[in-house]
Amino acid sequence: MYELPIRRLRIYDTPKVTSHFNSLDTDALASRFGAPVSRTFLDAYLSRIFDDGALVYGAFPDSCLRGVGELRTVPDRQNQVAELAFTVETAWQDRGIGDALLSRIIAAARNRGFREVHMMCLATNQRMRRLASKHKADLKLVTGQVEATLTPPWPTPFSLVEEISGEYHALARAILTWPRIEVRGGR
Ligand SMILES: CC(C)(COP(=O)(O)OP(=O)(O)OC[C@H]1O[C@@H](n2cnc3c(N)ncnc32)[C@H](O)[C@@H]1OP(=O)(O)O)[C@@H](O)C(=O)NCCC(=O)NCCS
Repeated sequence: MYELPIRRLRIYDTPKVTSHFNSLDTDALASRFGAPVSRTFLDAYLSRIFDDGALVYGAFPDSCLRGVGELRTVPDRQNQVAELAFTVETAWQDRGIGDALLSRIIAAARNRGFREVHMMCLATNQRMRRLASKHKADLKLVTGQVEATLTPPWPTPFSLVEEISGEYHALARAILTWPRIEVRGGR
């Protein structure tokens, strides 16, 4: 069975993350942030995307970064509540990438002991609402937005192994599809 490569992104992945966000149109960005955003806002946001221990994950369906999911601790909630946001490039939507990213991030939240994961989206965001329902989130309408609350189960040794093996799988795929380096002047 094909498993979509998803791995944790690190600070050295910033150029890939920047190019992913730059590829999104204004509607997708407005859906992601809950309101239209300016270039200055986006640049400032991207310069801090890995700050405060954020867990950022990337989906690489064709060896290029096509989807990004971000999990952040909600301050002042004893580190047990996190918020989640994600984006998939428009041409890659409706192929299950959002679903796979959401599953991976819920697993990561579970393994880190988060008891609640919140996602906010515009009430008109049908894809997001569909995904939230599929993952049995509790949906609440709050002034034009929907707040989806997921309750990850307690971690188990199996859930930890599953997360680690997902990371290795994605890294192995990245190595195997690494662009060939042309050797000049070789025999
Ligand atoms: C939300 C988002 C991440 C989903 O990514 P995706 O890769 O398209 O998600 P998936 O393909 O896994 O799932 C989309 C689901 O919505 C369904 N869907 C698509 N259009 C729909 C519509 N108009 N009404 C209802 N469901 C719809 C799809 O059929 C699919 O459900 P299924 O798997 O049961 O068939 C992506 O649309 C996106 O980046 N949007 C812009 C940013 C955003 O809104 N982020 C969320 C707020 S943080």
